[in-house]
Amino acid sequence: MNSEAKARRATKLRRHDAWRTTYTYANFDIDFEKKRFHGTVTLTLRKLDEQKQVVLDTSYLSISSVRIADKDVKWDLATERTEPYGSALTVSLPEGSTANDIAIEIAVATTKDCTALQWMTPAQTSNKKHTYIFSQCQAIHARSLLPCQDTPDVKSTYTFNLRSPLPVLASGLPTKVSEFRAGKDGQPGTLLYSFQQDVPMPSYLFALASGDIASAAIGPRLTVYTGPEELKDCQWEFEDDTEKYIQISEKLVYPYEWTTYNVLVLPPSFPYGGMENPQTTYTTPTLISGDRQKVDVIAHELSYSWSGNLVSCASWEHFWLNEGWTTYLERRIQPAVHKDDQYWDFSALLGWKALSDSIAQFREDHEFTKLMPNLEGKDPDNAFSSVAYEKGFLLLYYLEKLVGQDKLEPFIKHYFTTFKFKSVETSEFKTCLYEFFEKNDEPGYLKLVSKVQWHKWLSEPGFPQKPDSDTSLADVCYDLAKKWQSKGDKSGFKPAKSDLSSFSGQQIYVFLEALQDSSTPLPAKSVELMGSTYAFEKSKNVEIVSRFYVLALRSRAEKYYDDAALLAGSVGRMKFVRPLYRELLKVKPELAKQTFERHKDFYHPICRGMIEKMLVKEKGSGA
Ligand code: BES
Repeated sequence: MNSEAKARRATKLRRHDAWRTTYTYANFDIDFEKKRFHGTVTLTLRKLDEQKQVVLDTSYLSISSVRIADKDVKWDLATERTEPYGSALTVSLPEGSTANDIAIEIAVATTKDCTALQWMTPAQTSNKKHTYIFSQCQAIHARSLLPCQDTPDVKSTYTFNLRSPLPVLASGLPTKVSEFRAGKDGQPGTLLYSFQQDVPMPSYLFALASGDIASAAIGPRLTVYTGPEELKDCQWEFEDDTEKYIQISEKLVYPYEWTTYNVLVLPPSFPYGGMENPQTTYTTPTLISGDRQKVDVIAHELSYSWSGNLVSCASWEHFWLNEGWTTYLERRIQPAVHKDDQYWDFSALLGWKALSDSIAQFREDHEFTKLMPNLEGKDPDNAFSSVAYEKGFLLLYYLEKLVGQDKLEPFIKHYFTTFKFKSVETSEFKTCLYEFFEKNDEPGYLKLVSKVQWHKWLSEPGFPQKPDSDTSLADVCYDLAKKWQSKGDKSGFKPAKSDLSSFSGQQIYVFLEALQDSSTPLPAKSVELMGSTYAFEKSKNVEIVSRFYVLALRSRAEKYYDDAALLAGSVGRMKFVRPLYRELLKVKPELAKQTFERHKDFYHPICRGMIEKMLVKEKGSGA
């Protein structure tokens, strides 16, 4: 295979052909000393087409041998990387092989450039006692952990054997802990932690964590995992709602497929709010605010157990099928559990705001504001925004409005049954929708569905039509924001702590965002008065504190610069870190750079890379 073909293979985000992985057997030693994994990975692949070579995705991996049926075979690891996809590993099948299933055994080690793993020293953990490691593979980081067909279109069952001195979690059901091995030269002994994943899953859902991890039950089939000191608070935060969420989802779709549902609360450097790794959702500790105000993230992550993990988008260009469905399901679950009529409207309104922010960031005509963007040659992490979530949600909501909720519900069950264990492209979703309403033909429904302007929804950039929604919960937030804006214009407004007494956490976000977005920034003095009146910076809710600091930075309220930098250096969730750096760079670039230098080892490599890029761009712009 010539080098051009290899590069093409490595860049391929769409359907793999010829050979497809059906089973992955991964044996790794987690070496905290050398900060690397080493071991063997055996991929079993099924032939769909005659091809004498198998091409796998890798990124910054060190490969030492490749064997098929216990014999060394020819292999080639591309020496030049194709950014951002990595280096293709081409394995030649043995001469004359006619098998329909082959097992390729690869001896492999991760390197210091691995983008999926964050290694933490004891000093970086909360109780400072032990080392800690965790992974984040979505979108295309699994290839920096193990050679694989790193596209959501390929689904495989898995066995994981992970040797570590500390407890391990991985995306599968734990099967055994065995084979104690004494440590050498004063190193701690290790155990082999085994997991089995019998539900076929795409590579991006592989995840693991190992560290001082304790556990507590939060329901009949639910466990929360976290550090021993944080366990009680985490248990309290989730124990009331999680099982209820599962039961509502099961009614809406069908029974939960993955046996257990767990939540792992990670150290603060976890780069996302949540990540839907099967059996165990990984979350940021910023959800633990002692008021159960952020369990909505759990409703969201749980929904992926159907939309994303069982029925997966076939490539990152169809990402909206994961995110739009998940956002739709989350917004159906929450009001059902909390019996809250206004929840739907309010969260859809917050969603519209998130969509507007993303579109403003990219600009309205940008490819990434399309529901189905062209990602050829692009890093899906760079395309990631609220567009897939909110525009996707709005399309499904529009369908719901067209046919009525009672008619959409049977389609939800039908869609998730039709594509269970499979990966879907948007055209397949559409065909399924049309066929469903054709078969279940009640006069007029197919015609209704035919009203959807697919091209506009899927392939045009910018905003979709804004749905009507009840704005009463938001109006009180806008009113208070207006009072602050007109302060000083003889309005007579005297702020008091009680202004917020009837506000939920989310209403405070709406209030702060309304002020962030106003065309004339609030005077720095007003921001200081707001800080002393509402004590935002003392809130345990990072959603509030970070929004307040962004407002303060936009208003050039110098008093808060150092605190904002401190926050940017102590949480690694990109949703908070990126806006803080963006604003810090505008008002005090040296402080942004110093903060990054000081804390760069604290961040997960994905977050570190993003901030690094922002700082480099800044340099380039001469600021
Ligand atoms: N699957 C996403 C996170 C993700 C997307 C990671 C793309 C890497 C690439 C995840 O489950 C998610 O959407 N998280 C949100 C939760 C929120 C919408 C409730 C987050 O992290 O903020």
